[in-house]
Amino acid sequence: MIQVRGLKKRLRSQQVLNGLDIDLPDGHTVVIIGQSGTGKSVFLKHLIGLMRPDAGSIHVDGERVDPLREREWAPVRRKFGMLFQGAALFDSMRVFENVAFPLRERGGLTVEQIRERVMHALSLVDLDGSEDKYPAELSGGMRKRVGLARAIVGEPKYLLYDEPTTGLDPVTADTINELILRLRDSLRVTSIAVTHDMASAFKIGDRIVMLYGGKNYFEGTIEETKATDDPIVRQFITGQAEGPLTAKNRR
Ligand SMILES: Nc1ncnc2c1ncn2[C@@H]1O[C@H](COP(=O)(O)OP(=O)(O)OP(=O)(O)O)[C@@H](O)[C@H]1O
Ligand SMILES: [Mg+2]
Repeated sequence: MIQVRGLKKRLRSQQVLNGLDIDLPDGHTVVIIGQSGTGKSVFLKHLIGLMRPDAGSIHVDGERVDPLREREWAPVRRKFGMLFQGAALFDSMRVFENVAFPLRERGGLTVEQIRERVMHALSLVDLDGSEDKYPAELSGGMRKRVGLARAIVGEPKYLLYDEPTTGLDPVTADTINELILRLRDSLRVTSIAVTHDMASAFKIGDRIVMLYGGKNYFEGTIEETKATDDPIVRQFITGQAEGPLTAKNRR
């Protein structure tokens, strides 16, 4: 499991994370919600060592990882697969090479083993036959699925999703939700998903955490989240323009 305590991060003049506490228990899917710019992507980057906290601690399977040096991060990163916001594919590489990328970086596999794993990952995301295409030839939903295949190809214990459905039409978005559920069941991964798509959050998550003010402002099951009368959480999940989250109501 992952335990985050008192995480603080200042970027430029902004205190983005301000004492964030989160537990991510094995076997669960925790969905992190919150307004644009509240630090959701910044938080995910801390989990894989792409950003270092100013204060606080992160434990992964009991090991404290935040003070690790760059080369000590490699074995920890291997536990993670990440679907980046916007998929972040390499446009000059074919689908096959995009998915093979983390395996090649890691080393230790034969050409044949890499081929087998890449083709298996592509079939898990229903992209058999697309390995020779370039990202520019794919629809938004297909690009997300390539990103997903790349995230799972290393057989991670933890899967991180940054906005897996953003920018997709509702039907395509739901095929991604279904895929995330299917991967959870077939790979038995622990997932952390960041989203502001509430339909997706309620479908794929079993716990919801709302980030606000750099902290874990609210946490609950789907039922607890839907039933809460906290005005900030309510405004966010119902998508109302008027309320305590709206800029003009803030100091
Ligand atoms: N590398 C960076 N350098 C400086 N500031 C940064 C950096 N990365 C993020 N920030 C700032 O930190 C804040 C949080 O950014 P973050 O990307 O985590 O937001 P988010 O919650 O993921 O938003 P969105 O829902 O729009 O993706 C923003 O104000 C952003 O400008
Ligand atoms: Mg983000």
